[in-house]
Amino acid sequence: MEKLFITGGTPLQGKVTISGAKNSAVALIPAALLADGPVVIDNLPHIQDVDIYVELLKEMGADVLFEEDWMEIDGRALTLDVMPNGRVKKLRASYYLWGALLGKFGEARVGLPGGCDLGPRPVDLHIKGFEALGAVVTNQNGVMTIKAPGRLRGARIYLDLVSVGATINIMLAATKAEGLTIIENAAREPEIVDVATLLNNMGANIKGAGTDVIRIQGVDQLRGCRHTIIPDRIEAGTYMIAAAATRGDVTLENVIPKHLEPISAKLREIGVTVINEDDTVRVIGAENYRAVDVKTSPYPGFPTDLQQPMTALLTAAKGSSIITDNIYGARFRHVDELRRMGATIKVEGRSALIDGGGKLLGARVVASDLRAGAALVVAGLMTEGGVTEIEGLEHIDRGYENLVRKLRHLGATVRRLEVVKRTGHQ
Ligand code: EPZ
Repeated sequence: MEKLFITGGTPLQGKVTISGAKNSAVALIPAALLADGPVVIDNLPHIQDVDIYVELLKEMGADVLFEEDWMEIDGRALTLDVMPNGRVKKLRASYYLWGALLGKFGEARVGLPGGCDLGPRPVDLHIKGFEALGAVVTNQNGVMTIKAPGRLRGARIYLDLVSVGATINIMLAATKAEGLTIIENAAREPEIVDVATLLNNMGANIKGAGTDVIRIQGVDQLRGCRHTIIPDRIEAGTYMIAAAATRGDVTLENVIPKHLEPISAKLREIGVTVINEDDTVRVIGAENYRAVDVKTSPYPGFPTDLQQPMTALLTAAKGSSIITDNIYGARFRHVDELRRMGATIKVEGRSALIDGGGKLLGARVVASDLRAGAALVVAGLMTEGGVTEIEGLEHIDRGYENLVRKLRHLGATVRRLEVVKRTGHQ
């Protein structure tokens, strides 16, 4: 088993280049299958979720070439087959195969997804969308079968809840449906705009992505093209929070500052300096931070994916902060681990109450999910002594490309070491 060993107390300094967005990549890759020709995507991140998707597509017969900073996907040789539950279960975003295969073949048979343990993660809105387009959805022994008796027909679909996954999945399925599909109360995340941009470059006719009403006029054919993925706003936010937490001075390169506004605004409220340039953001920490309240909501609100790293930072803000996650009510498994490091945090319902101003000390902690892992890395970087040992790196590897290399480049004392698990009564 590998562990991270972090010695805290060093302010992060210098520049870090942000990678392509994980939550775009896991949608762009299946979207490329819709084309009747090769699609090249530049700047895809080398992270575990992308690697799993590459394996999934290869198992289905697609030609996939993943080089240093580009991937070519040719779905023409794709065959329709039930996905082996194993690999599909490792990746929640494998559910985008439903929309892509339904859009391509009018049929999809895929195992139910897996992914982070953030409490119940229903897919009822995805299914509601597919059924509205005329498909019949059955779920037997963990395999979802979605079949359209004829060609999918455009429909007006109102999403009860704002859902990134359902919005993208319905968009994928509707690209080649007969007629007009309107998605109302659609999610507005930048990743949705990124997928719509790729699909339109392939010849789709999608308008309104990024707003709460998306109109998709079905087309008959989609062609290969080239696309560059947007930067990862969650990876970027994690480094911004780490820069603030270590009272450092870090410039993030290859970002879209507008996508980071919810994080920048909150950091400024806390007392951090954030300076935007065209495609860079500079974060300068301060000695004293103000306690604040954070409430997560769909974009452009404060992202749920950053409430966990933000919790670590707020342990350094004198006074009481409250973080409320309005999207996932059970996304607090990092709190117990932060407590082991000396944090004073209480979870009540969907809120974490942080009594800040104390010091964190190194400890042995376990990452339970991707962003909980990010929170523990931030906490490890800000300890006033001791070494923090983090296990559960398989979660962190899902979403952070070259984490150790990037942190060491910023001056952090961090090592990733193989540890032989002690067994028996030694
Ligand atoms: C995406 O998940 C992201 N994952 C998540 O990031 C992110 O936390 C989430 O959006 C919210 O921003 C990817 O993009 C791969 P949702 P998704 O559908 O699409 C409920 C990370 O750390 N819901 O927007 O699955 C759902 O339970 C990951 O990178 C339904 O009730 O999220 C949640 O409470 C974690 N029925 C809310 O909607 C449905 O059919 C928002 O979920 C679908 C969702």
